[in-house]
Formats: sequence, C-alpha cells, structure tokens
Amino acid sequence: MPVIQISYSSSALEENARQLSAKLDLPQRTEHSADYDYLLEFSESGLSLVPSADKGYGPIQCDFAGGSHSHRRRFGGGNGQAIAKAIGVSGKFSPKVLDLTAGLGGDAFVLASLGCAVTMLERNPIVHSLLADGLARAAISAEDDSDLRGIMQRISLVEANSAEYLQQGADITSADVVYVDPMFPERKKSAKVKKQMQAFHAIVGADLDADKLLALALAVANYRVVVKRPAGACYLAESKPSYSLEGKSTRYDIYTLKKLPG
Ligand SMILES: C[S@@+](CC[C@H](N)C(=O)[O-])C[C@H]1O[C@@H](n2cnc3c(N)ncnc32)[C@H](O)[C@@H]1O
Repeated sequence: MPVIQISYSSSALEENARQLSAKLDLPQRTEHSADYDYLLEFSESGLSLVPSADKGYGPIQCDFAGGSHSHRRRFGGGNGQAIAKAIGVSGKFSPKVLDLTAGLGGDAFVLASLGCAVTMLERNPIVHSLLADGLARAAISAEDDSDLRGIMQRISLVEANSAEYLQQGADITSADVVYVDPMFPERKKSAKVKKQMQAFHAIVGADLDADKLLALALAVANYRVVVKRPAGACYLAESKPSYSLEGKSTRYDIYTLKKLPG
C-alpha cells in the first residue's frame, strides 16, 4: 500500500485537511514527515492527488468545469460516441443510469452531458473524496454557466460499495441502464500517457470482486446493463453479452433485457 499523507497550501484550508485526515484515517503531512508516495493536497484550486516527484507525472484532480471535460462536452461527438450508443442515448430517450463504479466520474459526466440522469456509486474513500470535491467545485462554476448547471443537476454521488448497496435493496427502481466499469488488472506500464492510470491502480488496486456486480446489475436494470472492458479482455463473470461495441482500446459489452423506448 502506498504511503499517503494529507496536506494543505494555506492556513485557510487547515480545517479541510484535518477533517479529511480524520475521515480517511491518514496522517497529515508535517514539515518533518518522512517520504510519501502521494499527497492528498488541499489548495485554492481544490483537492488533488499529488504524486511524489519520482513518479514522473502530475497531480490528479476532478475538473468537470475545465480542461478535457469541457472540450469533450463541446466537441465530443454527442450521441454518436460509443458510450452513448452502448447506453442507448438517443434524441428520443435519455436513460436514467446507475453507475456502479464511478471512479473520477468521467463517463458519468459524459452521460449527464448527453441528458442522462446519473447516480454514481464509489466505494474507495480517496477516489470518493476527489470526486466529491470535483462535484462541489463544478457546482460553483455552474452558477455562471447554465449548460453546466443542467448537467450537474443530473449527477448525484453515493459513497457505497455497490454490491452491498444493491443487496440491501436500495430504491433503484428507476435504473434504466446499469453501467459497470471496474478496474482491470494492469497490463503494461510503458506508455507515458497511462501514467495517471498507474496512480489510480496504486490507490484502488484491481477490482477483483467485479464479477459479482453483473448478476446484481441485471436484477435491477430496466433495459440493459453495459460493461466497459479493455479491448481484448475477457467478459465480466465469463458471461457472453447480447452484443459488443468494439473500439481501438475499449469494448462495451451490452446485456439487453428489454427494447429501449423510442
Ligand atoms: C475504472 S474506475 C471507473 C472509471 C470511471 N468509469 C470514469 O469514467 O472515471 C473503477 C472505479 O470503480 C470503483 N469500484 C469498483 N468496484 C466497486 C464497487 N463494488 N462499489 C463501488 N465502487 C466500486 C473503484 O474504486 C474505482 O474507483
């Protein structure tokens, strides 16, 4: 397990750091702290996961209002994107999506941008903290951006293990589509662009219990379950989907239950 410490850039953020340290049961960094692998750092720009200098890549932060999210929202290809086709988003129907593996919310944000109401579940407390911070900052940015405001109003986050959440019979009667994108065991470390993914693997690990999510998802979805896999990966729970959409690096396996409206 990597060494993770909590830090803050100005005294105004000290209380945030204290609360997160208590919640995650992780030490706060002091001037004399020993080496760390990652800092969870509060700064004026929000909460970031900052790798130690030797890792060779920059901080990880949820930034729904800017950067790549903003670009994809404007120029990403709309309902023509593979994820939109897999989920079944059309001009006539925007499914309500239950995302069992939220991560940093990238896929959920794309779906909400296309009009879907998305409930995200995330069990890893560090990932949940980064995501909750990103949502809170996006909500502030959305005050001056009506498009973003609509999107953020369609997204909600629950901190939970989705297997337990579904087994406890939470009220999920309105899940048209259940989406599952578990971590896949790391295959190669070479590509520099994948370095941030390595950080994610170090923090979250492989989701080795992912197979059981499929049956639980199929039991609650109204129309379909969609599983995202790396291209060439085995099927979740070794269960053959109704059909797949294959991309260069990603495959969507679609398990249909009922024809989508529209
Ligand atoms: C590959 S990431 C998801 C990436 C996400 N689709 C995105 O676009 O950012 C998988 C995430 O699912 C979470 N996860 C895996 N199994 C889970 C479960 N049973 N309940 C809740 N979260 C889970 C992991 O902690 C991890 O953050």
